[in-house]
Amino acid sequence: MKEQLEQLQVEALEEIKQASTQKALNDVRIKYLGKKGPMTEVLRGMGKLSAEERPIIGELANTVRTTIQSTLDARIEEVKAIELEEKLKAETLDVTLPGRTLTPGHSHLLQQIIDEMEDLFVGLGYTIAEGPEVETDLYNFEMLNLPKDHPARDMQDSFYITEETLLRTHTSPVQARTMLEANGKPIRIICPGKVYRRDEDDATHSHQFMQIEGLVVDESISMADLKGTLEVFVKQLFGETREIRLRPSFFPFTEPSVEVDISCFKCGGKGCNVCKGTGWIEILGGGMVHPHVLEMAGYDSSKVSGFAFGIGVERMAMLKHGVDDIRHFYTNDLRFIEQF
Ligand code: PHE
Repeated sequence: MKEQLEQLQVEALEEIKQASTQKALNDVRIKYLGKKGPMTEVLRGMGKLSAEERPIIGELANTVRTTIQSTLDARIEEVKAIELEEKLKAETLDVTLPGRTLTPGHSHLLQQIIDEMEDLFVGLGYTIAEGPEVETDLYNFEMLNLPKDHPARDMQDSFYITEETLLRTHTSPVQARTMLEANGKPIRIICPGKVYRRDEDDATHSHQFMQIEGLVVDESISMADLKGTLEVFVKQLFGETREIRLRPSFFPFTEPSVEVDISCFKCGGKGCNVCKGTGWIEILGGGMVHPHVLEMAGYDSSKVSGFAFGIGVERMAMLKHGVDDIRHFYTNDLRFIEQF
């Protein structure tokens, strides 16, 4: 029996040594120390031993049992450590690999100009107004003193959706909308937005472009206010030394109406290719809000007056940066876009 126990210990320890997973070690435990294992069997046979032999074999059996048990425990710890090590190795991150670079974009040049204008005018106490791009004939034309069949409608060839709805041809319908909403109160707004005309697209025309509308309505607003305001904005966008010049013009919704020129920022007025030798560049249209337009929107034109202007955003960008084709703004060629 002594040899049997010693043999058992040798075999168990050998198997423990060979086992390299926690599961295998658990199997070894069950095999040697489990209820149906050889140890149990040996202990059961103790009854047959003599009184002298019994304590000796009992002690040996205990030693064998604890030896197997503690060797198992030690080996389990070892295997756990190895398994952890392997897991860590398999999941290693190489922190020295280059990361994914984020290339941050930036605002489009047209948006930059709109932002700059908004900042300037908000600083002057204006608010930003908005209006729908799908507009009714009423706001786009009639409320602006352009009744049906008015010949001046030909100045703005339009995309009609139904007889009464169209893509707005200018941002001026926002004038009418804002006046109706203000309900007789003073107004200071600018409104940037997209507009649409049935133009053939070429280097200076696009069927879709952007405008910034300005509208001020209050007591005793005069042409001097319009001129002063435009001067501030022109100096901000085109440089401190720019001057402006107003020329008589015609819009049905302003009276008097003006075309506004700025002194050429390239040659300073001497004459060059940008200003086509004149020293002046036309940049926008404007005027004093027509009394009919005020009255239609519920204002008493004998008490209040106003001025309005409309600027083409693309045109400003083209002039400012010497862009020779309006289509560059929309084709999203990064070689163009990233220059600004
Ligand atoms: N809406 C006019 C246009 O698109 C510009 C304009 C706006 C003129 C406001 C006068 C006053 O041509």
